[in-house]
Amino acid sequence: MNKLTTDEILTKDSHLIQSFANLHALKQDDARTAIVAAEGAYVTDSEGNRLIDGIGGLWCVNVGHGRHEIIDAITQQLNTLDYYSTFYNFTHPAAAQLAEKVASLAPGHLNNVYFGNSGSVANDTAVRMLHHYNNLKGRPQKKQILSRMGAYHGSTHMAMALTTPAYAEGWGAVEGLVHHLKAPHKYREAPEMTDAEFLAVLEQDMLDAIARIGAENICAFFAEPIQGAGGVITAPPGYHKRMREITRAHDIMYVADEVVTAWGRLGHMFASEDAYDCVPDIITTAKGLTSGYQPLSATIISDEIYDVISGPDAMFLHGMTYSGHPAAAAAGLANIAILESEDIPGRVQTTGKLFEGLLRGLEDVDMVGEVRGSHFMMGIEFVKNKDTREEFPADAMVGSLVAKEAQKRGLIARALGNILILSPTLIMDDAMIHQIEATLRESIGKVSADLGI
Ligand SMILES: Cc1ncc(COP(=O)(O)O)c(C=O)c1O
Repeated sequence: MNKLTTDEILTKDSHLIQSFANLHALKQDDARTAIVAAEGAYVTDSEGNRLIDGIGGLWCVNVGHGRHEIIDAITQQLNTLDYYSTFYNFTHPAAAQLAEKVASLAPGHLNNVYFGNSGSVANDTAVRMLHHYNNLKGRPQKKQILSRMGAYHGSTHMAMALTTPAYAEGWGAVEGLVHHLKAPHKYREAPEMTDAEFLAVLEQDMLDAIARIGAENICAFFAEPIQGAGGVITAPPGYHKRMREITRAHDIMYVADEVVTAWGRLGHMFASEDAYDCVPDIITTAKGLTSGYQPLSATIISDEIYDVISGPDAMFLHGMTYSGHPAAAAAGLANIAILESEDIPGRVQTTGKLFEGLLRGLEDVDMVGEVRGSHFMMGIEFVKNKDTREEFPADAMVGSLVAKEAQKRGLIARALGNILILSPTLIMDDAMIHQIEATLRESIGKVSADLGI
């Protein structure tokens, strides 16, 4: 492909519809950034600026950019078998090997893997499987779902219904099927409480919802180990384990959305059991499964669910043409081989903790209300008044102001209203981690001075 100038790219780009963007604002000249190359923990924009990829593509490039092991594995796979489906009675070696590998890494009884091509589809698939499961068990009314305020589960119609209602307002996303429990967000919901008190409130909230809707009508509870796009919200200690106990006691399946948290980001292949002592019935995952080199997701289900949906006369009417695509499966296998051979999850337990600790240190800045998250999944919430936690108005977009300053200084960060999100590649050394902290400190300082805070 010929090398295009920035102007040429942006002119052609006027035909491209971006995701999760103010499309009107993007019509302004300097609103878009074209990324043209990437290597390791860095990307290069069309003006030749080399920037630290502080968001790992989109929380996904876990092993870093430009890994030839993955690129070669994809090429080799395409040269051998470019495409075949996993429909009907067909399979192929790459999908089979990856399914076995994923099952071997997932907690205990999660041994059965359905591939899709996005996190949204992984979550839709979980819902379809659970509805099918309950139909087969002779309880077709057991279809309602518990989710949480602040959740993000994707952008298909169903995944959007699982997501926090603010995203779907007025869109009528699968109305009446999903019930949102309180966000486990102590800083905003219950700053005056201890963790234990807040946990008791969250437990009661779930129990109340179950009593109101009826356990016989609820098939599942969906939860991210850490709510990502909702603002990197971490629940109080013991939350997931306790919610797991409650759901199990009421015969409600626990679906852990590990689209972001798996594959090393929190220092483990999967976070559910290793970080939160919670073995769910289903794990959905995507992103770091291939480190973004190919679109691929997995819905990993327990033996119990699989036994029912694979029972006699139980035709499974679900499928996407590209489920388990050979090139994506090859990318997944090569990516996991890197995660294992370089012990990236193990390294993250040290480097991710350094990152987390340095970023938490930014709480000494007046405009920083809370720094939250874990390892390489962090959020910084900016506030007008630290003591009262007074928020900036929604349209202040302080996150964007800081992200802009950071980008001028060589770091890409992601703005979410008045929050800044950092989810970099997992391969950074200590010097780069310190550099990110210094860049953020300087950028926040600049915006804070501009705003007079
Ligand atoms: C927790 C979570 N679930 C699901 C999704 C949806 O994944 P995708 O964008 O691949 O559909 C995302 C995307 O960011 C996510 O963060």
